[in-house]
Amino acid sequence: MRITAVAMTKGGVGKTTTAVNLSHGLARRGQRVLLVDADTQGQCAKALGVAAEVTLTEVLLGEANILDAVTRARDQLDLLASDHHLTRAALAIARRETAGHLALAEALAPVADRYDHVIIDASPGVDAIAVNVLGCANDVIAPVALTPAALAGVFDFVRHVERVGKHNCDLRLRYVLPTFLDLRAHQSTDALQQLRENFAELVCRPIRINVDLAAAFGWRQTIFEHAPSSRGAEDYEAFVTQFAAGVPVSA
Ligand SMILES: Nc1ncnc2c1ncn2[C@@H]1O[C@H](COP(=O)(O)OP(=O)(O)OP(=O)(O)O)[C@@H](O)[C@H]1O
Ligand SMILES: [Mg+2]
Repeated sequence: MRITAVAMTKGGVGKTTTAVNLSHGLARRGQRVLLVDADTQGQCAKALGVAAEVTLTEVLLGEANILDAVTRARDQLDLLASDHHLTRAALAIARRETAGHLALAEALAPVADRYDHVIIDASPGVDAIAVNVLGCANDVIAPVALTPAALAGVFDFVRHVERVGKHNCDLRLRYVLPTFLDLRAHQSTDALQQLRENFAELVCRPIRINVDLAAAFGWRQTIFEHAPSSRGAEDYEAFVTQFAAGVPVSA
């Protein structure tokens, strides 16, 4: 089982969109996938149209077994959902005296043999849950919106990954995924250029702005279900291919 965190301290950069569509894209290729929502906004369940009775909160607090908490969302794709109660778990973890940063890793251990991939949708910011996400991950996908503001936040995020990496030697920033590419806007193409100058081969083929990606959320569908011929589906399919091959391919 490989654990991949989709993480970036800045909000609204495409983390959830990436986590949901990557998870479904891998599941469509026959991989056994667990998508873990580690955000109080609970967007993953909404994106997939799933109602979960038990959430990550109960698992982290030791009130539920993870096997009872995962919900089947699609063929080959299970979801461990979250909602606003996750704040309760974050506070409890922050108060733990020992190994608080490993609570999520411990929670996921019992399902290690059941999945090929665990994809974790991280929250923005750096609370105890966000630290736990990086505490248990092998790889990090960092979505970066191609705007000056989002670009400025990337370097802080890299330092944050390095700090947590001192406690998790498996952790690697593996993919920098440019999102919201607008080929007609200079600031967007300039931002892409700067990302490539700073992160070289880690930079993946970008995800273009595509209204179908936002619309799919409203329909509780992934982009492959809602608009399989859209640019969004094309770009995420290409990212799934890169991810499955294990190497970023710039284009
Ligand atoms: N490439 C895109 N083109 C157009 N809209 C997009 C694209 N990617 C994401 N969106 C939309 O932008 C909004 C923010 O995306 P998303 O929720 O994935 O970001 P996030 O990083 O998870 O946000 P948060 O930090 O709040 O969790 C959503 O409404 C989503 O549907
Ligand atoms: Mg999100």
